Amino acid sequence: MNTISISRRKFAHLLGASAAAAFVRPAFSSAKLSEHIGATGGIVRLSANENPYGPSPKALKAMTDSFGLACRYPDEHNNVLIDKLARLNGVNHDQILLGDGSSEILKLCAETFTGKERGNLVAADPTFEAILEQAKTNGAEIVKVPLTTTFAHDLPKMLAVAKGGLIYVCNPNNPTASITPKDELRDFIAKTPRETVILVDEAYFHYSDSPDYESVVPLVKDNPNLIVARTFSKVYGMAGLRCGYCVAQKETLERMRPYQMWDSVNIMALAAANASLDDPDQVSTGQHLNSEAKMFVISELATAGYKTIPSQANFIMVDCRRPVVPLIKAMKEQNVHVGRLFPALPNHMRVTIGKKPEMETFVSAFKQVAA
Ligand SMILES: Cc1ncc(COP(=O)(O)O)c(C=O)c1O
Repeated sequence: MNTISISRRKFAHLLGASAAAAFVRPAFSSAKLSEHIGATGGIVRLSANENPYGPSPKALKAMTDSFGLACRYPDEHNNVLIDKLARLNGVNHDQILLGDGSSEILKLCAETFTGKERGNLVAADPTFEAILEQAKTNGAEIVKVPLTTTFAHDLPKMLAVAKGGLIYVCNPNNPTASITPKDELRDFIAKTPRETVILVDEAYFHYSDSPDYESVVPLVKDNPNLIVARTFSKVYGMAGLRCGYCVAQKETLERMRPYQMWDSVNIMALAAANASLDDPDQVSTGQHLNSEAKMFVISELATAGYKTIPSQANFIMVDCRRPVVPLIKAMKEQNVHVGRLFPALPNHMRVTIGKKPEMETFVSAFKQVAA
C-alpha cells in the first residue's frame, strides 16, 4: 500500500475502530517508558498531572498505521477529528477549534481577549498559571481573586473586578483539585455581560464524579461569550502528543483564528486523538484506576494525620502543616517528584495520582520526610 498517497477516506478508516485488527502493543509502548519512570528503580514522577497509563491501545495502533502520513500536512485530517468532537459534544463542526494541546487554546484566548485595549484577565488564586503569563505578555492587567474557603472560584468577586477582557475559570481547578458548583457557575455565566469573555477550562472534566459538578459545554449555544477548553492530555493519556480543543460559538472562534498558527496539531496527535474516542474503555478505565489509587493514598495520609482538599481530579493537594518547599526538595532526594510551590497555599503539596505502586512509594517517602 502506498501510504503516502493515502486518501482522506482511507485516513478516516485507519483512525476508526473498524481498522482495529487484533492489537499488538508496539515495541515503544508506554510499558517500556514506564520502566524508566515507574515506581521501581527510577524516578516516580507525580509532578505534572499526567496519566501514567498512557494512550489507548487503539491510539498507539492508529499512530503506527499513520507513519506514512508524516510527510503530509495535517490540513483536512483535522476535519476527521473535528467532526467526531462535534458529535461528541452535540455542537456543529464550526463550533470546535483544535489546539496544540489546550495550552494553545488558553494562549489564543489571552491573545484575542486581553490586553491594554481589550481588557483585563481575571483568574482565581491559586489556579493554573499559564494564561496569566500569556495575558501579562499581552500587556493586560491581571486580577487574582482568592478561592473561597471551600476552594471554589469566588465568581461574584471575579465578575465585580472584570473590565471587558477575559475571566478564566478552571473547573476542576488546578492545583486544588476542587470544583466550583454547577449552580453557581450557571448563574455566573448568565449574569456576565457579553463584552466579557468567559473561558472555562475543563482539562480534568473526566475525573469529577461529584453531583455538584457539570460541564458547561451545553451552555455554549446560548452564550456567545463562553469558551470551553478540553484536552487529550489527561484521561486520554496523550500529554506528550499535544492535542486539545475548545467549544464556542462560530463567531467567537472566528475572532481567535487569526492568532493561531496554521496546522498547529500534528498528524500523529490527530490519529491518536481520533482513535482514542473510539475506545470505549479509555475513559472508564482511567477514571476507575485513578479513583482506586487516589482512595488508597488519601486514606494512608489520613491515617498519618494529613488532610487533603477534597479531590475531583487526578491529583490531590495535601496540607503538610508546614512550609512545603523543603518537603518538595526532600521528596526529590528520595526520587519522588511532586508538584511545585503554589504561593497562595505555601503549606500544601500537589501530588499527581500515579499507579498504585507509585503511590505506595510516595506514601513511604512522604512519611519519612514529613516525620
Ligand atoms: C487546568 C489545565 N489546563 C490546561 C493544561 C494544559 O494542558 P495541555 O496539555 O492540553 O496543553 C493543564 C496542564 O496541566 C492544566 O492543568
